[in-house]
Amino acid sequence: MTTYTLHYLFINLKFFIMKQNEKNKNQNAQNRISSKSATSGRGSNGQKGQESLLEKFFTDQLKDIYYAEQKLLKAIPKMAQACTTEELEDAFNDHLKQTERHVKRLEKVFQIIGKKPEAEKCEAIEGIVKEAETIINETKQESMTRDAALIIAAQKVEHYEIATYGGLVQLALTMELHRAADILDKTLMEEEDTDRLLTEIAENYINIHAEEEGDRTWQKEEQGQDESETSNTMASYSM
Ligand SMILES: [Fe+2]
Ligand SMILES: [Fe+2]
Repeated sequence: MTTYTLHYLFINLKFFIMKQNEKNKNQNAQNRISSKSATSGRGSNGQKGQESLLEKFFTDQLKDIYYAEQKLLKAIPKMAQACTTEELEDAFNDHLKQTERHVKRLEKVFQIIGKKPEAEKCEAIEGIVKEAETIINETKQESMTRDAALIIAAQKVEHYEIATYGGLVQLALTMELHRAADILDKTLMEEEDTDRLLTEIAENYINIHAEEEGDRTWQKEEQGQDESETSNTMASYSM
């Protein structure tokens, strides 16, 4: 066998091994896609299977929060208008603009999962908004107590949204909907920031000024209670 023939055989063998490796790679990739399709409810023929229970729950939660955000677009302006302080009014109006973006983001997520944006009545937000309306009706106009109460009402809204978006982000990650998870996480961060801002506004001065509105009757009772508790403790020590 000549050197030339050996060289020719060697090149052919190398080419054969390369081809074989490429074939194996393609087969592995195909296997991965098939197993993913099976777990995502798609059959081997590539056709969409039945919606899973978790997919249905995820969609229902999206519809719920889509309703809530739209309800808030109407409720926040009323709350802002009722504010005593400009700082709280500005905070509500800023969050109104964010809420408009939250609605748009939810529409994007609906698009990602191939569904039309749809709202489903959310009884929880109906109740929380009703409570805010009651606060406006039952507190004195231009009082700091009204602002202190409005902050609590608004924080109840934020906590509801934080719970929903927090859960949706985790479910989206579990179902490998990474783009949807990113979009929902942006909103989650804005809800958390708003909640923190409201706490700051309340603690900085609104609660303190609300406390100065009118005489309190509780302090004496608490002091009296403390005294009797102390004397009871002293009595038990001397026993
Ligand atoms: Fe929101
Ligand atoms: Fe919010």
